[in-house]
Amino acid sequence: MDGKSTATKENDTLSVTDNRTGKSYDIEIKDGTVRAMDLRQIKENDEDFGLMTYDPGFTNTASCRSAITYIDGEKGILEHRGIPIEQLCEQSSFLEVAYLLINGVLPTEDQLSEWTHEITHHTYVHENIKDFMNGFRHDANPMGMLLASVGALSTFYPEAADIDDEWQRHVTAVRLIAKVPTLAAFAYRHSLGLPYVYPDNDLSYTGNFLSMLFKMAEPKYEPDPRLEKALDVLFILHADHEQNCSAAAVRVVGSSRVDPYSAVAGGVAGLYGPLHGGANVAVLRMLNRIGSTDNVPAFLQGVKEGDERLMGFGHRVYKNYDPRARIIRKHVDEVLEATGRPSPLLEIAIELEKRALDDEYFTSRKLYPNVDFYSGLIYEALNIPTNAFTVMFAIGRTPGWVAQWMEMMEDPELKIARPRQIYTGAREADYIPMDKR
Ligand code: CMC
Repeated sequence: MDGKSTATKENDTLSVTDNRTGKSYDIEIKDGTVRAMDLRQIKENDEDFGLMTYDPGFTNTASCRSAITYIDGEKGILEHRGIPIEQLCEQSSFLEVAYLLINGVLPTEDQLSEWTHEITHHTYVHENIKDFMNGFRHDANPMGMLLASVGALSTFYPEAADIDDEWQRHVTAVRLIAKVPTLAAFAYRHSLGLPYVYPDNDLSYTGNFLSMLFKMAEPKYEPDPRLEKALDVLFILHADHEQNCSAAAVRVVGSSRVDPYSAVAGGVAGLYGPLHGGANVAVLRMLNRIGSTDNVPAFLQGVKEGDERLMGFGHRVYKNYDPRARIIRKHVDEVLEATGRPSPLLEIAIELEKRALDDEYFTSRKLYPNVDFYSGLIYEALNIPTNAFTVMFAIGRTPGWVAQWMEMMEDPELKIARPRQIYTGAREADYIPMDKR
């Protein structure tokens, strides 16, 4: 063996021969991974920078060690701190799941009641936020407003920049989970030209959110318990999903040691995109465009010919039915019953799913419904405008972003995120004066 060995155990190694030089190396395998930095020793000559890995979209790169969320995409398993998502949706509540994600264990009764009390009493936002919201155009996308206002929270709480202070981290976590629904509801009311509704601390987390969205002249808004429950389940289903685009964004931005509001605003921005949290909006638009179950075969043909994408289908990690989609599906009927508004789009969605799951194009590519396939139908039934769907996802995902950020802050291996590149551009080119171009 010519190269330096990084192995500790004889069998847990990867033997690599560099055919450019004929040198061999033993690289340690730990937790099913090799360290990318262990490849750096592989050089063609002394001037060589050393071997790097190339992984666009990080499809095969573990960027951290994490104990928050476990996913087995092949089997369709999702667990938070080891507890299956099905059990959490049936037996827990969104605020309890938020506690679990952030603290690593289920709370005792006292801990849960203190946590709930803290969150309930941090739902108000500074009055200046209203002025800030008013500055947006009447038709501003609520997700853009949420993104800006979450970032703006750092200016209201500059002490959050003291990220090594445990109390500041805690209170920022509480403020984010408490205030994101208020900001989201303000954004929604602004888009409709309606006055903002202040939080009602007597109501549950989801009941208060419904009140901030829909309360009109009545002295007290009384949420339908079926809708409160369905929304709570939806928030649980969105609470975390390990190193997806937005969580990775939170970690990357946060690795610069910026305050957590700014890091979470990075997550909101990642979620805004149509391939991530924006997919539920795209699903609704797609269902509206299809218009009737009769048009489903022609639409699917277009997908197979590459002219369309079946939104709400496929997932980077799940190569099986997304367990979240299964749970949401069960709640669609309940919500439709509570609102008394039948959804013609549901029929189209069911027909699409049935035909796609029966079609070799989709089954061979392991394309199954994901969380966004049915969530939009629930939001629509709740009368939430399409452009506010992703905001709902953001409320649910906030504890996940916070948990990912908190875990990162405790990571002894934390380094500022700084990927490498393969440079493909020109070198040592001379500047050309304007009149010579
Ligand atoms: N409709 C039609 N074909 C698809 C779809 C789809 N929704 N998704 C993937 N494919 C095809 C793709 O064209 C490719 O085919 P081929 O091998 O012939 O080139 C093959 O399946 C593999 O696709 P990929 O793009 O390599 O898969 P990916 O893991 O990079 O993409 C995805 C994952 C979620 C971006 C993609 O499936 C997609 O665009 N889905 C629609 C958008 C969507 O619903 N996103 C929500 C994701 S879940 C919510 C969240 O967690 O954010």
